[in-house]
Amino acid sequence: MKKTVFVTGSEGQVGCELVRNFSEKGWDCYGMDIFKESSNPNLKGYLYGDVRKRESFKDFFKFVNTNELRFGELLLINNAGVAVFTPAEERTYEEYREVSDINLFGPIVGITEFYKFFVKPNKDLKEKKCSIINIASIYGLIAPNQKIYTDTQRNSSEIYGASKAGLIQLTKYFATRYANDDLQINCIAPGGIYNKKLQGSGFLKNYGDLVPQNRLCRVQELSNLICSIVESNCKYLTGQTISLDGGMSAW
Ligand SMILES: NC(=O)c1ccc[n+]([C@@H]2O[C@H](COP(=O)([O-])OP(=O)(O)OC[C@H]3O[C@@H](n4cnc5c(N)ncnc54)[C@H](O)[C@@H]3O)[C@@H](O)[C@H]2O)c1
Repeated sequence: MKKTVFVTGSEGQVGCELVRNFSEKGWDCYGMDIFKESSNPNLKGYLYGDVRKRESFKDFFKFVNTNELRFGELLLINNAGVAVFTPAEERTYEEYREVSDINLFGPIVGITEFYKFFVKPNKDLKEKKCSIINIASIYGLIAPNQKIYTDTQRNSSEIYGASKAGLIQLTKYFATRYANDDLQINCIAPGGIYNKKLQGSGFLKNYGDLVPQNRLCRVQELSNLICSIVESNCKYLTGQTISLDGGMSAW
Protein backbone atom coordinates (compact mmCIF):
# COMPACT_ATOMS: atom_id res chain seq x y z
CA MET A 1 0.00 0.00 0.00
CA LYS A 2 1.29 3.44 -0.94
CA LYS A 3 1.88 5.64 2.11
CA THR A 4 2.32 9.41 1.84
CA VAL A 5 3.09 12.00 4.48
CA PHE A 6 2.99 15.79 4.16
CA VAL A 7 5.10 17.61 6.75
CA THR A 8 4.87 21.38 7.27
CA GLY A 9 7.91 23.08 8.74
CA SER A 10 9.93 20.25 7.19
CA GLU A 11 13.26 22.09 7.44
CA GLY A 12 13.24 22.50 11.22
CA GLN A 13 14.52 20.18 13.92
CA VAL A 14 11.32 18.16 14.31
CA GLY A 15 10.37 18.32 10.61
CA CYS A 16 13.73 16.88 9.46
CA GLU A 17 13.50 14.06 11.98
CA LEU A 18 9.91 13.22 10.96
CA VAL A 19 10.97 13.06 7.33
CA ARG A 20 13.97 10.87 8.19
CA ASN A 21 11.90 8.45 10.22
CA PHE A 22 8.91 8.17 7.88
CA SER A 23 11.09 7.78 4.77
CA GLU A 24 13.06 5.02 6.51
CA LYS A 25 9.74 3.24 7.05
CA GLY A 26 8.90 3.41 3.36
CA TRP A 27 6.66 6.47 3.26
CA ASP A 28 6.78 9.01 0.44
CA CYS A 29 7.59 12.28 2.22
CA TYR A 30 6.69 15.77 1.02
CA GLY A 31 7.83 18.89 2.84
CA MET A 32 6.80 22.53 2.93
CA ASP A 33 8.69 25.38 4.57
CA ILE A 34 9.49 29.06 4.11
CA PHE A 35 12.99 28.41 2.75
CA LYS A 36 13.36 28.72 -1.02
CA GLU A 37 14.99 25.32 -1.34
CA SER A 38 15.51 22.12 0.57
CA SER A 39 18.51 19.85 0.32
CA ASN A 40 16.83 17.08 2.31
CA PRO A 41 17.51 13.89 0.30
CA ASN A 42 14.67 12.07 2.07
CA LEU A 43 12.01 14.33 0.56
CA LYS A 44 10.25 13.15 -2.59
CA GLY A 45 9.03 16.71 -3.14
CA TYR A 46 9.52 20.08 -1.51
CA LEU A 47 7.37 23.22 -1.67
CA TYR A 48 8.48 26.72 -0.75
CA GLY A 49 5.22 27.76 0.88
CA ASP A 50 3.56 29.43 3.84
CA VAL A 51 1.08 27.61 6.07
CA ARG A 52 -0.93 30.82 6.39
CA LYS A 53 -1.87 30.62 2.71
CA ARG A 54 -4.53 28.34 1.25
CA GLU A 55 -2.72 28.45 -2.11
CA SER A 56 0.37 26.92 -0.49
CA PHE A 57 -1.58 23.93 0.81
CA LYS A 58 -3.36 23.55 -2.55
CA ASP A 59 0.03 23.40 -4.30
CA PHE A 60 1.43 21.13 -1.59
CA PHE A 61 -1.28 18.51 -1.99
CA LYS A 62 -0.91 18.52 -5.78
CA PHE A 63 2.24 16.43 -5.27
CA VAL A 64 -0.16 13.51 -5.00
CA ASN A 65 -2.51 12.45 -7.74
CA THR A 66 -5.84 11.74 -6.08
CA ASN A 67 -6.28 8.70 -8.34
CA GLU A 68 -3.43 7.13 -6.38
CA LEU A 69 -5.57 7.30 -3.27
CA ARG A 70 -7.16 3.92 -3.86
CA PHE A 71 -5.71 1.55 -1.27
CA GLY A 72 -3.42 4.39 -0.16
CA GLU A 73 -2.68 6.06 3.13
CA LEU A 74 -2.31 9.82 3.53
CA LEU A 75 -1.05 11.72 6.53
CA LEU A 76 -0.67 15.46 7.16
CA ILE A 77 1.55 16.56 10.04
CA ASN A 78 0.87 20.17 11.04
CA ASN A 79 4.33 20.71 12.47
CA ALA A 80 5.31 24.28 11.43
CA GLY A 81 5.31 26.58 14.41
CA VAL A 82 6.95 29.70 15.77
CA ALA A 83 7.66 31.12 19.21
CA VAL A 84 8.50 34.58 20.56
CA PHE A 85 10.70 35.19 23.54
CA THR A 86 10.12 38.85 24.37
CA PRO A 87 8.36 39.65 27.69
CA ALA A 88 4.55 39.61 27.65
CA GLU A 89 4.52 43.20 28.91
CA GLU A 90 6.22 44.27 25.66
CA ARG A 91 4.16 42.10 23.33
CA THR A 92 3.58 43.80 20.00
CA TYR A 93 0.53 43.25 17.88
CA GLU A 94 2.78 42.00 15.06
CA GLU A 95 4.32 39.31 17.30
CA TYR A 96 0.91 38.28 18.56
CA ARG A 97 -0.38 38.04 14.99
CA GLU A 98 2.58 36.09 13.68
CA VAL A 99 2.42 33.42 16.40
CA SER A 100 -1.33 32.99 16.24
CA ASP A 101 -1.45 33.09 12.43
CA ILE A 102 1.22 30.40 12.00
CA ASN A 103 0.41 28.19 15.01
CA LEU A 104 -3.39 28.39 14.80
CA PHE A 105 -4.54 29.66 11.44
CA GLY A 106 -1.91 27.49 9.66
CA PRO A 107 -3.38 24.21 10.98
CA ILE A 108 -6.94 25.41 10.29
CA VAL A 109 -5.96 25.98 6.67
CA GLY A 110 -4.03 22.69 6.50
CA ILE A 111 -6.86 20.61 7.96
CA THR A 112 -9.62 22.16 5.86
CA GLU A 113 -7.64 22.05 2.59
CA PHE A 114 -6.66 18.41 3.28
CA TYR A 115 -10.34 17.64 3.84
CA LYS A 116 -11.43 19.42 0.65
CA PHE A 117 -8.63 17.99 -1.49
CA PHE A 118 -8.46 14.37 -0.39
CA VAL A 119 -11.28 13.41 1.92
CA LYS A 120 -14.51 14.97 0.69
CA PRO A 121 -14.14 14.06 -3.02
CA ASN A 122 -13.24 10.47 -2.13
CA LYS A 123 -15.92 9.77 0.47
CA ASP A 124 -16.84 6.47 -1.11
CA LEU A 125 -13.28 5.13 -1.28
CA LYS A 126 -13.42 2.92 1.78
CA GLU A 127 -9.93 1.49 1.18
CA LYS A 128 -8.20 4.83 1.73
CA LYS A 129 -6.88 5.95 5.11
CA CYS A 130 -6.51 9.63 5.95
CA SER A 131 -5.26 11.14 9.15
CA ILE A 132 -3.78 14.31 10.57
CA ILE A 133 -1.41 14.86 13.47
CA ASN A 134 -1.04 18.33 14.97
CA ILE A 135 2.07 19.25 16.95
CA ALA A 136 1.08 21.36 19.94
CA SER A 137 3.20 21.71 23.09
CA ILE A 138 3.02 20.84 26.74
CA TYR A 139 2.70 24.62 27.21
CA GLY A 140 -0.75 24.34 25.66
CA LEU A 141 -1.70 22.33 28.76
CA ILE A 142 0.42 23.75 31.56
CA ALA A 143 2.23 27.05 32.11
CA PRO A 144 6.01 27.22 31.90
CA ASN A 145 7.78 27.42 35.23
CA GLN A 146 9.50 30.82 35.07
CA LYS A 147 12.26 29.65 37.42
CA ILE A 148 13.98 27.57 34.73
CA TYR A 149 15.12 30.48 32.57
CA THR A 150 18.23 31.36 34.58
CA ASP A 151 20.79 31.29 31.73
CA THR A 152 18.63 31.95 28.67
CA GLN A 153 16.43 34.66 27.21
CA ARG A 154 14.31 32.04 25.45
CA ASN A 155 11.41 32.24 27.91
CA SER A 156 8.30 30.54 26.61
CA SER A 157 5.63 33.17 26.01
CA GLU A 158 1.96 33.60 26.87
CA ILE A 159 0.92 33.75 23.23
CA TYR A 160 2.85 30.58 22.33
CA GLY A 161 1.06 28.61 25.07
CA ALA A 162 -2.29 30.12 24.16
CA SER A 163 -1.81 29.24 20.49
CA LYS A 164 -0.94 25.64 21.40
CA ALA A 165 -3.94 25.40 23.74
CA GLY A 166 -6.00 26.59 20.78
CA LEU A 167 -4.48 23.89 18.59
CA ILE A 168 -5.49 21.24 21.13
CA GLN A 169 -9.06 22.56 20.96
CA LEU A 170 -8.95 22.73 17.14
CA THR A 171 -7.97 19.06 17.14
CA LYS A 172 -11.16 18.20 19.04
CA TYR A 173 -13.31 20.46 16.87
CA PHE A 174 -12.16 19.06 13.52
CA ALA A 175 -11.92 15.44 14.75
CA THR A 176 -15.61 15.53 15.63
CA ARG A 177 -16.59 17.56 12.57
CA TYR A 178 -14.98 15.01 10.23
CA ALA A 179 -15.46 11.84 12.31
CA ASN A 180 -17.93 10.36 9.84
CA ASP A 181 -15.67 11.13 6.89
CA ASP A 182 -13.04 8.60 7.98
CA LEU A 183 -10.59 11.34 8.86
CA GLN A 184 -8.80 10.89 12.18
CA ILE A 185 -7.21 13.95 13.76
CA ASN A 186 -4.99 13.75 16.83
CA CYS A 187 -2.44 15.94 18.54
CA ILE A 188 0.86 15.51 20.35
CA ALA A 189 1.91 17.88 23.12
CA PRO A 190 5.68 17.46 23.48
CA GLY A 191 7.67 18.82 26.36
CA GLY A 192 10.91 20.69 25.64
CA ILE A 193 12.96 18.94 22.99
CA TYR A 194 16.70 18.64 23.47
CA ASN A 195 18.65 20.86 21.08
CA LYS A 196 22.35 21.15 21.76
CA LYS A 197 22.64 24.38 19.72
CA LEU A 198 19.99 26.27 21.70
CA GLN A 199 20.06 25.06 25.30
CA GLY A 200 22.69 25.81 27.94
CA SER A 201 23.64 23.61 30.88
CA GLY A 202 21.69 25.75 33.39
CA PHE A 203 18.46 25.48 31.44
CA LEU A 204 18.93 21.73 30.88
CA LYS A 205 19.47 21.15 34.61
CA ASN A 206 16.57 23.40 35.65
CA TYR A 207 14.21 21.82 33.14
CA GLY A 208 15.30 18.29 34.05
CA ASP A 209 14.56 19.01 37.71
CA LEU A 210 10.91 19.62 36.79
CA VAL A 211 10.52 16.32 34.93
CA PRO A 212 10.02 12.96 36.66
CA GLN A 213 12.35 11.40 34.07
CA ASN A 214 14.87 14.25 34.70
CA ARG A 215 15.48 15.25 31.10
CA LEU A 216 14.14 16.85 27.94
CA CYS A 217 12.43 14.93 25.15
CA ARG A 218 14.59 13.46 22.38
CA VAL A 219 13.38 14.41 18.93
CA GLN A 220 13.48 10.75 17.87
CA GLU A 221 11.04 9.92 20.69
CA LEU A 222 8.55 12.34 19.18
CA SER A 223 8.90 10.99 15.65
CA ASN A 224 8.77 7.36 16.90
CA LEU A 225 5.55 8.10 18.80
CA ILE A 226 3.93 9.65 15.73
CA CYS A 227 5.00 6.75 13.49
CA SER A 228 3.65 4.26 16.03
CA ILE A 229 0.28 5.98 16.31
CA VAL A 230 -0.13 6.17 12.56
CA GLU A 231 1.08 2.65 11.87
CA SER A 232 -1.07 1.17 14.66
CA ASN A 233 -4.07 1.43 12.33
CA CYS A 234 -6.25 2.20 15.34
CA LYS A 235 -9.19 3.87 13.63
CA TYR A 236 -10.99 4.53 16.91
CA LEU A 237 -8.37 7.04 18.09
CA THR A 238 -9.43 10.59 17.24
CA GLY A 239 -9.67 14.02 18.84
CA GLN A 240 -7.01 13.17 21.41
CA THR A 241 -3.93 14.97 22.65
CA ILE A 242 -1.06 12.87 23.94
CA SER A 243 1.46 14.54 26.25
CA LEU A 244 5.02 13.44 25.56
CA ASP A 245 6.70 15.05 28.52
CA GLY A 246 8.55 12.50 30.65
CA GLY A 247 5.73 12.79 33.18
CA MET A 248 6.09 16.56 33.70
CA SER A 249 2.35 17.25 33.54
CA ALA A 250 1.53 14.23 35.73
CA TRP A 251 2.68 15.58 39.08
N1 LIG B 1 11.50 22.37 20.07
C1 LIG B 1 10.75 22.18 21.15
O1 LIG B 1 11.24 22.15 22.29
C2 LIG B 1 9.27 21.99 20.98
C3 LIG B 1 8.52 21.59 22.07
C4 LIG B 1 7.15 21.42 21.95
C5 LIG B 1 6.55 21.64 20.72
N2 LIG B 1 7.30 22.05 19.66
C6 LIG B 1 6.61 22.29 18.39
O2 LIG B 1 7.15 21.42 17.42
C7 LIG B 1 7.03 22.02 16.12
C8 LIG B 1 8.39 21.98 15.43
O3 LIG B 1 9.31 22.72 16.21
P1 LIG B 1 10.88 22.71 15.97
O4 LIG B 1 11.52 22.59 17.30
O5 LIG B 1 11.25 21.78 14.89
O6 LIG B 1 11.09 24.22 15.49
P2 LIG B 1 11.97 24.75 14.31
O7 LIG B 1 12.00 26.22 14.45
O8 LIG B 1 13.27 24.02 14.25
O9 LIG B 1 11.11 24.34 13.03
C9 LIG B 1 9.91 24.97 12.69
C10 LIG B 1 9.86 25.08 11.18
O10 LIG B 1 8.63 25.72 10.81
C11 LIG B 1 8.93 26.58 9.70
N3 LIG B 1 7.93 27.64 9.56
C12 LIG B 1 7.78 28.76 10.31
N4 LIG B 1 6.81 29.53 9.83
C13 LIG B 1 6.30 28.88 8.75
C14 LIG B 1 5.28 29.18 7.82
N5 LIG B 1 4.57 30.32 7.91
N6 LIG B 1 5.03 28.30 6.82
C15 LIG B 1 5.75 27.15 6.71
N7 LIG B 1 6.74 26.81 7.57
C16 LIG B 1 7.02 27.68 8.56
C17 LIG B 1 10.31 27.16 10.07
O11 LIG B 1 10.94 27.74 8.95
C18 LIG B 1 11.00 25.94 10.62
O12 LIG B 1 11.72 25.23 9.61
C19 LIG B 1 6.51 23.43 16.36
O13 LIG B 1 5.13 23.48 16.14
C20 LIG B 1 6.83 23.68 17.82
O14 LIG B 1 5.97 24.63 18.41
C21 LIG B 1 8.64 22.22 19.75
